[in-house]
Amino acid sequence: MYSNMPKARAGNRQIDLRSDTVTRPSPGMRKAMAEADVGDDVYGDDPTVRALEERTAELLGKEAGLFVTSGTQSNLIALLNHCGRGDEYIGGVGYHIPKYEAAGAAVLGGISPCHLHPNENGALEASEVEAAIRPDDPHFAISKLICVENTFNGRVVDQEDMLRVAQVAKANGLALHLDGARLMNAAVKSGRPAKELTEPMDSVSLCLSKGLGTPVGSMLCGSHQFIEQARRNRKILGGGMRQAGVLAACGLYALDHHIDRLEEDHEKAAVLAKRLTEIEGIEIDMKSVQTNMVWMKVVNKGSRPLSEHMMERHVIVGDPDATQTVRLVAHLDVESSDIDVIVDGFSSWLGQTNG
Ligand SMILES: Cc1ncc(COP(=O)(O)O)c(C=O)c1O
Repeated sequence: MYSNMPKARAGNRQIDLRSDTVTRPSPGMRKAMAEADVGDDVYGDDPTVRALEERTAELLGKEAGLFVTSGTQSNLIALLNHCGRGDEYIGGVGYHIPKYEAAGAAVLGGISPCHLHPNENGALEASEVEAAIRPDDPHFAISKLICVENTFNGRVVDQEDMLRVAQVAKANGLALHLDGARLMNAAVKSGRPAKELTEPMDSVSLCLSKGLGTPVGSMLCGSHQFIEQARRNRKILGGGMRQAGVLAACGLYALDHHIDRLEEDHEKAAVLAKRLTEIEGIEIDMKSVQTNMVWMKVVNKGSRPLSEHMMERHVIVGDPDATQTVRLVAHLDVESSDIDVIVDGFSSWLGQTNG
């Protein structure tokens, strides 16, 4: 997903579909940053960070929250909290933690991964999780944690599946961590309050810098005790920030203004997907288009690299990967009126219009 990504250029406005991480802070968000009351957050003095932590904990139904630099740091802190050296976590093949976080848990925590294949919506099968839990035997790593992800590739995980996994975790004394980088997309799409989705979780990571549109930051939430330990692990990872209120102000702004509007991103993705399926040579499983992501298969190929062709139209996309898949992500900075430009770009690339 990352290795074949073109780079944005300075200058003209571009329609950047690589990810929802590319959003720029809006004027309202910049105003909130400028006006933020700040203090030294490593001393616990920053009122805006504290407000964001309390607000997010409340949103996710947990006792406490911690503002951290990124989703990767948030997940890593959670793993370091839940597991020690020689412990094992159970996660899904293709989940962000085992695939895209540079094996941080193994490198820095001596924590071993056990991967199971999730179902098509990203859920782990409870019976497979149960079977993967190691017996108490010195030959084996010690199973300590189950990591789940929601949304997964833009799909909303069925809450019933989550509850079954949670039951297995509880029955076997394992902790359950949710990588909820895009949890608010799942909440908006499913119509369930975020705290209902997070109720069975011991810890939750929520990214502010994806669909919620802030420039930096994620939130880790859990019990008071968990967050105290997380504060220490954040410090170890060099993630203690000083006058971080200027960044936390963006988070508060996003929680006020950018949650309900995620529905607009879902709508843009759905319209884009529908229009693209009308182009010969493009295949999209419409069932997979549930939130802000479109995964398309390019059956035919244009005569030149897709990214080059689209860049001339000020549209940024990756080239098809080995499975001929391209991911397109709708977000705050993609307008509904951009869809025509995107669709024209694909259809001219495939030689179906002049371009
Ligand atoms: C599901 C998921 N979890 C975690 C992360 C990591 O977030 P960050 O890029 O802030 O480290 C990402 C980033 O794209 C993600 O998609």
